Order: sequence, then C-alpha cells, then structure tokens
Amino acid sequence: MNLLPLIEAKRDGRPLSPAQLRDIVAACTAGAVPDYQMAAFLMAVFFRGMNAEETRAFTLAMRDSGDVLRFPADPRPIVDKHSTGGIGDKVSLVLAPLLACLGFRVPMISGRGLGITGGTLDKLESIPGFTTQLAPARLVTQVQTIGVAMGGQTATMVPADNLLYALRDATATVPSIPLITASILSKKLAEGLDALVMDVKFGAAAFMRTREEARELARCITELAAECGVKTRALLTTMDTPVGRSAGNWLEVKEAAHCLDCYGPDDLQELVVDCAAHLLVLTGKAGDWEKARATALQCLATAAPRAKFDELIAAQGGDIDAFRHELALDHTAPVVLEVITSEEGFVTRCDARIIGEVVRDLGGGRMTKESVIHPAVGVDMLAKPGEPFGVGSLLCRVHALTRAEAEAAATRLRAAFAFSEEPYEPPPLIAEVI
Ligand code: URA
Repeated sequence: MNLLPLIEAKRDGRPLSPAQLRDIVAACTAGAVPDYQMAAFLMAVFFRGMNAEETRAFTLAMRDSGDVLRFPADPRPIVDKHSTGGIGDKVSLVLAPLLACLGFRVPMISGRGLGITGGTLDKLESIPGFTTQLAPARLVTQVQTIGVAMGGQTATMVPADNLLYALRDATATVPSIPLITASILSKKLAEGLDALVMDVKFGAAAFMRTREEARELARCITELAAECGVKTRALLTTMDTPVGRSAGNWLEVKEAAHCLDCYGPDDLQELVVDCAAHLLVLTGKAGDWEKARATALQCLATAAPRAKFDELIAAQGGDIDAFRHELALDHTAPVVLEVITSEEGFVTRCDARIIGEVVRDLGGGRMTKESVIHPAVGVDMLAKPGEPFGVGSLLCRVHALTRAEAEAAATRLRAAFAFSEEPYEPPPLIAEVI
C-alpha cells in the first residue's frame, strides 16, 4: 500500500475518509507499512488532530483489527475501567477482583507503561509466572468461570493497538486526544462491554496537563463509547501526586494487595470505591450513589476480593507460593535507600512527574521499544501532600539495582518534595465526573 498520499493529506490538515483510515490500520496490522511511515502518520495526527468521524472510523478499524469477544448470555453485566495513565496508578489491580466479587464480568485488556506512566501489564508481569498473553477463547472462559481476566493486546486481540501503542511511546505522539481515544476504546470495544468507567487524569504527570484538556478527552471518549452502545462515566482526577505511596511495578502490586487486605492507602481506596460505585449505578445494580458506594466499600472490607486476586493470579499461571513469599519480603531489589528530610512543616508537593522519571530511569519503565523492565525497582513509603513533617523524617525509600543508582535517584527525589510551615490541604483527587 502507498501510504504517502494519506500522510500528505493528514500533514496538510485534510480529513481522511473512513475507508482510507481502515486501509491504514489494515496495512499497519499486516506489517505492510514501515515504522517510519506509521510514525510520520502519527505525528501528522498529533499536530492536525482528527474530527469526530475520523476518530470513530479509526477506533472501529483498530477494534476490528483482531477478534471481538463474544460472551454467553449471563445475568452478570460485562464492565471495565481504564485510566489514561498516571504514576503509582494501581487502581485496576484492586478494582478488577473487587468488581468480580460484586457480580460483574471483567474482561480487562490493558496496556504497558507509556512515557513515564506505569502500565497494568508491566505491573502484573512482576508477579512470578503471571502471563498477560491470553488467547480470546481462554479470556472468555476465564471470565465466565472466575469473573475476571487481565490481559494485553496480542496478535489476535486489538493487534493494531499493540503495534501503534509501542510506536507512539517511542515517537512522542502519545498526548493526542484522537490517538488516546482510539487506543483506549479499540481495546474496550473489543471486550464487548455493557459499561465502562474512565479515569481521565490531568496534571504535571498526565498526558493531559490541564483540566480543560482532560474534559475534552473525557467527552471524546464518553460520546464515542455511548454511540457504540457502552454506558460510560469519566472521572477527571488530579495527577500531580502519585496514587498511593509507591511507584514501580512490584511495589505497586504489593500496595494493591495491601489495599485488597483493606490497609488503604486512602486515595487508592477512594478511587477504587468510586469507580466500582459508578459501575454499580450505570448497570442498575445499585439504585443510588450512596448505596452503591456503601456496597463497594463493604465488599472491599471482606476477604473475598483478596481471595479473588489470588484466584486470578493462579488462573493466569502465577506462582501463588512465590507471590506470597515475595509479598512477605520488605523488598526484592538489591539496594534500598531511605531519603530523609532536613526540613520541618507540612508537605505541599510530592511531584509525580519527577517520581515517574526517576522510576523509569531506575529501570522501571521504557526509554525505547526494546528496553527491559526491572520489576523490583521504584519508590515506596512516599510522604504525601498535607502530611506533617519533622527534621529526620522519611520522605520515601528508593529501590534500585545498585548503590550508585539509588544515590543518584535520592538526590533527584529530594527535589520532588516541597514544604510549608502552614498546614496544607491538598486539592480533591476526583475533580469532576462526566
Ligand atoms: N491508555 C491506553 O490504552 N492508550 C493510551 O493512549 C493512553 C492510555
């Protein structure tokens, strides 16, 4: 296929027809276009955007690049949640088993880390033996049996997103509203969902820097999802501070397991419970918001969601004994270093962007498509905005492969925090619901 005229059209701001967009996706999926041409196309879209008709056609072509899941009739609604990407965002790891315990079917297809933001697949793969490569038939069977499966794009499920996701990451073309919409909704529409809750992040460490941009992205996603028959709510949430107290693949799995054991942290639990409550309301399983929240919270407080997480791990090849053994360890990285402050007062900033960059550079994220992830590295025990502080208090711990890397990270991490003598009230985590 000759992609050149289509790249030129998009470069010059001319809209592409649905048939042209289908051709591009088909050629990309078939490996018939070199990466440099797809990269040029993505950059043209980044600068020129897509209108609603193009975004719809591109999304549906990506969805149809592979299988679309078909589930047997069952009273349990099929639901999912997706985040546009943040630091320390382990919400899906807690929410998916909780939703299964609330009587939903959850065929969650997630992505890897993009830019400095973490990816659910990388987190799950830090569990010994866990596979995220599930064939569609296996995914359906597992969801029917235990209520939940967590996999990734494969050669047969949304293969177009599998290819474009990695290419966008390597070509600085992620923060584009039509490309994010198509990437997310191609996966979600391939799951055959009844309802979806979106966590659209804005702030220093999000792809959408401002609340207005996040609102525009949220509207683009919710309107297209609704047109495709999926009831959708979007939460606009702040991403200036990491979610929870840890960032880094294994450390986030560990924090998610603690949250499932009902040990907080508060911000993570708030997001999990609100996402679950929105799905209960959207699917008519709870009459009103207060009842829905109470139902989600009560379920999280039982032992069932944690047991469901273990069931999910075992179903996807994870070694439960090794998982439990590693959970009981203080750390699995070779070096752990405490970062201490010489200040006192109240924390006013715990900069998610700096923390995300540090975690990536420690080996927790990718610089290129070929980068190898080191699951054990990251930061934990993060001090959060609003908390009081004394001289000698712990700001966070660095988990690194070498002492030199830990010390370099500690120096950068000190700059991620700011303090004030006055008490400080951080802004609400959930700014708006669309
Ligand atoms: N999550 C996705 O799946 N795709 C994006 O482009 C961003 C976040």
